[in-house]
Amino acid sequence: MKILLIGTGGREHALALALNADPQVTDLYAMPGNPGIATVAQLVPGNGQDGEQVAQAAKRLGVDLVVVGPEAPLVAGVADAVRAAGIACFGPSAAAAQLEGSKAFAKEVMQQAGVPTARALTCHNQGELDDALAEFGAPYVVKEDGLAAGKGVVVTDDLAQARQHGADIFARGGKLIVEEFLDGPEVSLFCVCDGKTVVPLAPAQDFKRALDGDKGPNTGGMGAYSPLPWAPADIAEQVVAQVALPTVQQMARRGTPFTGLLYCGLALTSKGLRVVEFNVRFGDPETQVVLARLRSPLGQLLEAAATGKLAGFGPLAWDEQAAVCVVLASAGYPKKARKGDEITGIDQAEQLAGVHVIHAGTAREGESLVSSGGRVLAVVGLGQGVAAARARAYAGMEKISLPQGHYRSDIAKAKA
Ligand code: AMP
Ligand code: GLY
Repeated sequence: MKILLIGTGGREHALALALNADPQVTDLYAMPGNPGIATVAQLVPGNGQDGEQVAQAAKRLGVDLVVVGPEAPLVAGVADAVRAAGIACFGPSAAAAQLEGSKAFAKEVMQQAGVPTARALTCHNQGELDDALAEFGAPYVVKEDGLAAGKGVVVTDDLAQARQHGADIFARGGKLIVEEFLDGPEVSLFCVCDGKTVVPLAPAQDFKRALDGDKGPNTGGMGAYSPLPWAPADIAEQVVAQVALPTVQQMARRGTPFTGLLYCGLALTSKGLRVVEFNVRFGDPETQVVLARLRSPLGQLLEAAATGKLAGFGPLAWDEQAAVCVVLASAGYPKKARKGDEITGIDQAEQLAGVHVIHAGTAREGESLVSSGGRVLAVVGLGQGVAAARARAYAGMEKISLPQGHYRSDIAKAKA
């Protein structure tokens, strides 16, 4: 099987490693990829955002399947262009990608499907915002409606900050939703979907705040671990039954079937599980830990989803080890990330048992490897139990240096 993978981040490096490990995958291409992906795939020029360009490349390369990593090309309709060219694609249509592209749309579908989520109000101006903030009270949850790379959400007790976040969104011409605060631990569950059937992967948890102790601003994600020893043993089945399957069925009824990865971001509250958000692609950095443990062939799984044959796909096999990943971010992230700093020590980290490094924002500059984005890389540790995996991830991180790079020291701490 020949596969073209679209994307450039840590999630795509993790996808590339798992696709490359599938014995049926003979040729792996990546557009545009990154220096880590280049070790297992042939890089293809292009930004991956333009459907025609991706479809042309897929035809020229003669691939059987296109796998789209990030949300932006999905929302822009890249999967539609690939399918129109007669090539199978793992990733939803632009219409179905609105589950992530618009939080208001996602709320509407959840309401129709009877999926439990926080009560929410859509606001178009400051007056509506003030009314909604007064109705829900603190802690305030204010979310930009469109795509914002994980940075469009403010959760705060400070009314002025909640109002200011809203004012910034309105000033850009956007709309927002205000919703009920959900307490309780968060779980990310990835569901592979073929329009009708849902196959869940192993649950993971990510760490969204920039600083230790869940302080600082929200980021794209600073670390993750899987499995979740504290979660109910049947969490995946519960989420499929209460959330993923009803959503996939509702999307089919609406005439916009969902084929691809439905990322269910959940809070396990005292009143039961609630959806915090949907994404329409693998999570970053949860993918780095989930796929590190997957023993079933990923290429065959994604192809079965893309061609409507998931019902025949047997139960998934998992490594019994736990995985923990810690993200190294560049100076200034998430506000304004500095680029061009030299990264050293990756080889030394990977010499340690049970450690591998995932590239995200890295680039080659002559002989050296430099930072080229906010989240630069992630160190993944595998071990018997979360504590052992965590120790390995941090031992690996200590070998790596990046001027003024920063990472959290409490990823998966006390989660064993
Ligand atoms: P989202 O982009 O919707 O996933 O929000 C980003 C993060 O903000 C989530 O992972 C939560 O940590 C937090 N968050 C979002 N919605 C809520 C909510 N209703 N109650 C509490 N925290 C939330
Ligand atoms: N880790 C959160 C996300 O991928 O949206």
